[in-house]
Amino acid sequence: MSGVRFPFEPFRIKMVEPIGLTTREEREALLQEAGYNPFLIPAEKITIDLLTDSGTGAMSQAQWSAMLSGDESYAGARSYYHLRDVVQRVTGMPYFVPAHQGRAAENVFFAALDVGPGMFVPANQHFDTTRANVEVRGAQALDMVVSEGMEPHNLAPFKGNIDLDRLARFIDEMGAEHIPAVIITITNNSGGGQPVSLENIRRTKDLLAPHGIPLVLDAARFAENSYFIKMREPAAAEMSVAEIARATFDLADAFLMSAKKDAIVNIGGLIGVRDGTLFQKISTELILREGFITYGGLAGRDLEALAVGLEEGLDEHYLAYRVGQTAALAGRLQEAGLPLVEPPGGHAVFIDAKEMLPHIPQRQFPAHSFVVEMYRVGGVRAVEIGSVMFGGVDPVTGAERFPELELVRLALPRRVYTSSHLEYVADVCAEIYRRRETLRGLKIVYQAPTLRHFTARFSPL
Ligand SMILES: Cc1ncc(COP(=O)(O)O)c(C=O)c1O
Repeated sequence: MSGVRFPFEPFRIKMVEPIGLTTREEREALLQEAGYNPFLIPAEKITIDLLTDSGTGAMSQAQWSAMLSGDESYAGARSYYHLRDVVQRVTGMPYFVPAHQGRAAENVFFAALDVGPGMFVPANQHFDTTRANVEVRGAQALDMVVSEGMEPHNLAPFKGNIDLDRLARFIDEMGAEHIPAVIITITNNSGGGQPVSLENIRRTKDLLAPHGIPLVLDAARFAENSYFIKMREPAAAEMSVAEIARATFDLADAFLMSAKKDAIVNIGGLIGVRDGTLFQKISTELILREGFITYGGLAGRDLEALAVGLEEGLDEHYLAYRVGQTAALAGRLQEAGLPLVEPPGGHAVFIDAKEMLPHIPQRQFPAHSFVVEMYRVGGVRAVEIGSVMFGGVDPVTGAERFPELELVRLALPRRVYTSSHLEYVADVCAEIYRRRETLRGLKIVYQAPTLRHFTARFSPL
């Protein structure tokens, strides 16, 4: 019997969606057809889908009913004004526009900021689309997360913090005129979903302000980050999560948000800024790429769902359940002996495949091998964040390169799976772990020139 308890779900279910149940033989055939790449397996053939927490959440009755009152006017829709009131209450940001998702917000924002060659955009850690949107403009995206952020077993509470000494040195060396913005990603998705402290954000702002460099939040998981601050940062313990979120946004000059995460919508994004001139440039870019400033690529009904979700995502009972569910899954896996990135993040559990499968060299993709076995054994879909995603041939030296961390990510969709679903996932992982020496690596038989993990095909060794 396990000692780890899953949290109480603060909702009940009134609409159900059948789950894909398959036999082991069917899954073996599906794996072969998909070239051993779970991205290429139809979702209906997945039993528990932990591929991502982005856009996969279950909306509430309040969100669904708000959608029915969506105003589909092209300009000045009532739904826009509803969203505007909520965005101002939650973030305090004087100007905002909707966008259809996070990467669209990034594209519009970096264009308006005139990011270009010879410029540098430091961050605690860029998410891959943020990095790509900086690099595609010829600028350099730099990661400056604190060193403990790269140590899987370091239990530091805020492993997503930016390294302020490094950032200060960098500004002195490069000159503020070459740094159009500094980004803080909350929570740090690329680094295990680890939070950033309010103190770290405040000190970053204090460092940047005299140089006139804007502080930009990549705020996809602003609510989970605020909840971690309440739990772990003594100075904020008496504040509500909504107050912490507001205090976080108050320190920023701008924010970008993929609303598909903590605002619990299936599609949507936001850009918020303090500066009126920058807002005008953003408006021009938005109209060119996304749509008019009062809808930004979304339907009126989407704006309504987003307005409701932004505040629902800050509910403390919901957040206690959400972060508790991730921690409980992590606890069950640790009881079974699996090595994890610790402490668990908000949206996902990360398994350290380098430590778990030392007999499979990185060039044979140990984390991916575990991901494939999870589908084979239990129909569970996870994602590799390791040498398939970040490895490959260095375009400059031609040498094979491997990432520092070799991880399996189990991302939890919001309000979708119950504790018994996650107990099942833990049992599947534990069963594979017990006979981990039997796992074998894979080789790539097809790969695209960029972002190969989405479409690569493999054959087992
Ligand atoms: C931190 C972060 N920023 C940006 C994005 C991009 O958002 P979207 O998928 O909505 O384009 C994501 C998505 O996973 C993310 O996690």
